Amino acid sequence: MSRRILFLCSIFIVVMSAFALRWPLTVVPVHAAAANDKSYSPSYTRNGDLVPPLEYRKWIYLTSGLDMSYLPSNTPDMSMFDNVFANREAYDSFLANGKWPDKTVLVLEARSASVKGSINKNGHFQSGGVMGIEVHVKDEKRFPGGWAFFDVASETKATLIPLKAPCYSCHQDHGAVDTTFVQFYPTLLPIAENKATLSKSYLKESPAAGK
Ligand code: HEC
Repeated sequence: MSRRILFLCSIFIVVMSAFALRWPLTVVPVHAAAANDKSYSPSYTRNGDLVPPLEYRKWIYLTSGLDMSYLPSNTPDMSMFDNVFANREAYDSFLANGKWPDKTVLVLEARSASVKGSINKNGHFQSGGVMGIEVHVKDEKRFPGGWAFFDVASETKATLIPLKAPCYSCHQDHGAVDTTFVQFYPTLLPIAENKATLSKSYLKESPAAGK
């Protein structure tokens, strides 16, 4: 991985940590969510915020990352997992086409990582409540560039993150498919390779990819 990516990724973890620290540790509304037998489509409040997709824990699981900063750690006492989920309709469409359809919603949930607990002696497990939730929404008519990021601030409110935020540039420059980090989603990367939907910037960064 190049030094430039390493640096950019360090910004990612700093931003993530800032969000995480702001979160009350006990907020875990996801179990109270409605049944998942209906199809999901994003909806918004009148001022343009997203209605948080609280049922995301019933969606399709894509990956977990542990302390993904790719830098010598400058916060050694803080260890964190992120878990990524996709709504089922979007996942099914990706399997068929290697692309995200309009109205795709991807959720990144952060949880603290622990070593000591119960019978565990080595390795990390996920502990405690949710430390932060961020959402990536594809809504082509609504957002310039087709996608927007939201920060889930409470059970009823997910605030729109402005276009100038580093979220957009890192995802745009380094995400393997359509501003998303499919290179880290093991069930999806082979599909994108087969369907030849990997982004030009990703192929340039990782010349062995897609071959
Ligand atoms: C320096 C690069 C970088 C920056 C900046 C960044 N991210 Fe990401 N983002 C990543 C990586 C890498 C992943 C993959 C995580 C994994 O594999 O567990 C990711 C995944 C995500 C996902 C899961 C869906 C997807 O698009 O792949 C969401 C949601 C997300 N980030 C939101 C945000 C938000 C909100 C911000 C700004 C506050 C942000 N990111 C800033 C690198 C970045």
